[in-house]
Amino acid sequence: MSYKNLLVENSNGVTTITINRPSKLNALNKETIEELHDAINNADNSAETKVIILTGSGEKAFVAGADISEFANFSVNEGGKLAAKGQELLFDFIENLSTPTIAAVNGFALGGGLELAMACHFRLASDNAKMGLPEVSLGVIPGYGGTQRLPQLIGKGRAMEMVMTAGMINAEKALNYGLVNYVTTQEDLLPNCQKIAGKIMRNSSVAIGKAITAINANFKDSVNGFETEIENFGACFGTEDFKEGTTAFLEKRQANFPGK
Ligand code: COA
Repeated sequence: MSYKNLLVENSNGVTTITINRPSKLNALNKETIEELHDAINNADNSAETKVIILTGSGEKAFVAGADISEFANFSVNEGGKLAAKGQELLFDFIENLSTPTIAAVNGFALGGGLELAMACHFRLASDNAKMGLPEVSLGVIPGYGGTQRLPQLIGKGRAMEMVMTAGMINAEKALNYGLVNYVTTQEDLLPNCQKIAGKIMRNSSVAIGKAITAINANFKDSVNGFETEIENFGACFGTEDFKEGTTAFLEKRQANFPGK
């Protein structure tokens, strides 16, 4: 499947999706959001994909935000729908995927770009990365989950400051804040993501999917995370992966998980 605004490549169980609008610093227009939904959904449903890596094309930007030219003339109603549709199609969608999804932040991750990176399960950044939620400088607030996920990741006070000042933080500060897990050179960014993907792929994909659900439950209103954990823990006992994992341990050999 080919896309106008994305490059998709699969190798050794890892699907790398590159947002490819470098002339607009990979800004997320409606079409790109729809294509991302489609590409991520295909990867999630493919037996060839065990891990998804999301990145931006070029050396300057991961994603410089939602495409401002598309919503500059929107009404109150259209603004609300823009956020709701985007959250449903892309941001909540990614967060709740059972396939581990890593953001490789290779430059500016601003507004919707940082929100996209935050919707991924975790993030690595290159040392030139700059991150921020500058929406209030445009007279609007983050609408793709930024007001929720930024404080979850870095704490309320830091999130308040970043949002109110509309400022950018560099990769080192993002690492210090816990917004990204590692900082590497731009050259090493994808190889490092692939190395972590390799470690993930040795484990049970079914158990990983259930662990994602349980961890996410901690951040969902009206969901009891401990109950979600118990439910998913119990469900693991009915999987072929559990039988293989425990049998392999007792037989002192490497597990070969069927992913069922
Ligand atoms: N929406 C639409 N177009 C965008 C964009 C966005 N969020 N971010 C960058 N672009 C476009 C620019 O309009 C420009 O297009 P043009 O060459 O047709 O004029 C192109 O990408 C390059 O950007 P430019 O601003 O010239 O690059 P720069 O190096 O001078 O500045 C940034 C880089 C990231 C600081 C600057 O582009 C910027 O502030 N972008 C908007 C960030 C933002 O507010 N995001 C949140 C949106 S809710």
